[in-house]
Amino acid sequence: MLVNAKKMLEDAHREKYAIAHFNINNLEWTRFILEECQKLNSPVILGVSEGAIRYMGGYHVVVSLVKSLINDLSITIPVALHLDHGSSVESCKKAVDAGFTSVMIDASRYSVDENIRMTKEVVEYAHPKGITVEAEIGHVGGEEDGVADELAYAKVEDAIRLAKETGIDFLAPALGSVHGIYKGEPKLDFRRMKQIDDALQMPLVLHGGSGIGDDLIREAIRCGISKLNINTELQLAWNQAVREFIESNENVYDPRKVIKAGEMAMKQAIDHKLQLLGSVNKA
Ligand code: 13P
Repeated sequence: MLVNAKKMLEDAHREKYAIAHFNINNLEWTRFILEECQKLNSPVILGVSEGAIRYMGGYHVVVSLVKSLINDLSITIPVALHLDHGSSVESCKKAVDAGFTSVMIDASRYSVDENIRMTKEVVEYAHPKGITVEAEIGHVGGEEDGVADELAYAKVEDAIRLAKETGIDFLAPALGSVHGIYKGEPKLDFRRMKQIDDALQMPLVLHGGSGIGDDLIREAIRCGISKLNINTELQLAWNQAVREFIESNENVYDPRKVIKAGEMAMKQAIDHKLQLLGSVNKA
């Protein structure tokens, strides 16, 4: 069932668990994620970056793919299709028009005033159509889609302004997490996370969810995180399994067999995350 992300995240925030946002890259990943979340009866958010949208052929391709898989695989859990890091108002509008049920406008590289202006424009376009909106304050570091970004911690007063002045549904405050592989231990600012949560009482989003230890993730959920974004961890799990398969099966060239070699590893990683986040049987 394709839905927006409002109810699943508000339920999670109230009951102190979190929903996984898994990034999708192709048909197979989408199928593996949907099948495993259905098996564990967990709601899920399918995140799609602009790079992944280009890779798959466009906004409409992604919407048709996800809708068709939900239909043909008889997926009954709540599934939100979410634009990840929309870089412009136009990109968010395109996603809404194509049938995404949730969008993130990431104007975190601009001034707070400009971030608020752009985010508000997206909210005004998306909300009348029933589409949920996420925004970012501060700046998540690391590298995504080949773009390197500096980490900048969010200020509590900026987070409050962005949320209150725009009417967004959930907020991603950058508090020490980075996209991709961590160099050293993640240094998450739980104090600020809790302050923002106390002030806003709205679902918070933690980007760069790969490579953060289980205990830190549990603490983040206690401090208001209701959506955990995971991309790299699934890529690593898939990649390792496929490499091993190719090295030990030199004569196999059917792409279905090669790509499928990563299915078990990916499903195990998904299973672990859903158990950790506490979203099993919350569909
Ligand atoms: P990771 O690739 O570090 O898991 O981050 C994913 C993410 O935050 C997508 O928005």
